[in-house]
Amino acid sequence: MSKAGVVLAAGLGTRMKSSLPKVLHLLNGTPLLRYIVNTLYELRLQKIIVVTGERQKEIKESLTDTGRVSFVRQKDARGTADALSAAISSLRGFKGTILVVNGDTPLITGETLKRFLKKHKRNRNDISVLSFIAKEQNSYGRILRDRGGRIISIIEERNATASEKMIKEVNSGVYAIEHGSLHFLKEIKPNKVKGEYYLTDIVEIALNKGKKVESYCIGSEEEFMGINTRKELEKAGQLMRQRIVERFMNTGVSFIDAGSVFISTDTEIGKETLIYPNVHLEGRTKIGKGCIIYPNVRLLDTLIGDSVVIKDCTLIESSVVNDRASIGPFAHIRPESKIDAGVRIGNFVEVKKSVIGSGTKAMHLTYLGDAVIGKDVNIGAGTITCNYDGYTKHTTAIEDNVFIGSDSQLIAPVTIGKGAYVGAGSTITKNVPQKALALSRAEQKILEGWAIRKKSKAKSQKLKEKKKKQR
Ligand code: UD1
Ligand code: CA
Repeated sequence: MSKAGVVLAAGLGTRMKSSLPKVLHLLNGTPLLRYIVNTLYELRLQKIIVVTGERQKEIKESLTDTGRVSFVRQKDARGTADALSAAISSLRGFKGTILVVNGDTPLITGETLKRFLKKHKRNRNDISVLSFIAKEQNSYGRILRDRGGRIISIIEERNATASEKMIKEVNSGVYAIEHGSLHFLKEIKPNKVKGEYYLTDIVEIALNKGKKVESYCIGSEEEFMGINTRKELEKAGQLMRQRIVERFMNTGVSFIDAGSVFISTDTEIGKETLIYPNVHLEGRTKIGKGCIIYPNVRLLDTLIGDSVVIKDCTLIESSVVNDRASIGPFAHIRPESKIDAGVRIGNFVEVKKSVIGSGTKAMHLTYLGDAVIGKDVNIGAGTITCNYDGYTKHTTAIEDNVFIGSDSQLIAPVTIGKGAYVGAGSTITKNVPQKALALSRAEQKILEGWAIRKKSKAKSQKLKEKKKKQR
């Protein structure tokens, strides 16, 4: 039997108090909607339809792999039943089961959905509802059952009586609906309190028409957490991070304080890597095996090889760091940099859009921008590539085995040839040939006894002034 998925994501998200559509809010650095859509990718669905409201383009862009998804617009957010109705035109001719999920439930797992669909199919239901037990006070729809334990209806919290509110079994917002029962959507009347069309009402309507409806209480409360407020967004972020960190610990990654780290969903980390507290791994970051990431490091969209050490308070953005390199403390590697194997970048070094060849060292107080640096180069403390003339950026090329003395400025465009030396304190404006020494500082002068002469001059000056006053 074929299956389709529909994600309801057109709600206004009023409770977020935001102009941004709710499903675009970031959860652990990833747009909210992407989670449930990625989970649907794990299931074998013939088609996936996402119902959006305004700003469909941005919503589309917030997802990956959108070739597998079709998007429909719900004109006005008139409730969950109205949202599903908007998807019907895309389901024309489709015969099978429609899995309906909310766009604001990011923690649902593929396994739970698979279990649910199996139960739905095995029992040949017309409609199945996925429910769970909520321990805490909540705003979920309550599952009403008869004495025999069969579901009768779902009642929204705002419509529930005091005793109905006591019911712990609640609606997850996940439904399996056979295509033959979709037409019941037309019979749903606007809710008396809110005036919205509630999808939950389909249960009672279908039952009245003699259809088979069941509710399955599976999965955990955490998994079905719906994000309606910023408080819930923050809490779901914590749960998501806990999940991610546990997954890594199971695959051989160590954490000193797992609760203090932030790891995006798309991050990968190799075995035997050790992560210190307060580390942020964002975007599509990939760390190899046996690395050490010290406290307060932030890596964004960065590829780190094996056995790399990133020392305290370092920021690396959209760059590549190869095996056995050591970066930091207090280093800033800006986008499009490539740091090769065994390179050592030390404290207060900024690298921008540069290639640093293997074995090269830049240990202290340096700016390397738009530079192409070869192997085994020594960059002395305080070296600056002057890459910007006020209009455009220029390249500095430093070939293999070069030695740049401390406090040198390399005025780009400029090339320092293989094995050349630049004397400390030089301002290099012309290319330096291979194996040469370039020196541009003024020659040192020695004035013997100068300090003594200066002192006696000052003394006699003071005496003169004293006499002047006495007169
Ligand atoms: C809904 C259920 C509730 C359930 C809970 C689970 C209804 C009436 N209530 O409540 O029983 O316990 O989910 O989390 O269905 N949406 C649209 N268009 C609309 C309105 C909503 O696409 O016009 C989308 C939203 O973007 C959201 C989802 O539907 O992703 C659920 O809407 P929301 O307003 O969050 O419903 P809840 O009050 O959480
Ligand atoms: Ca919700």
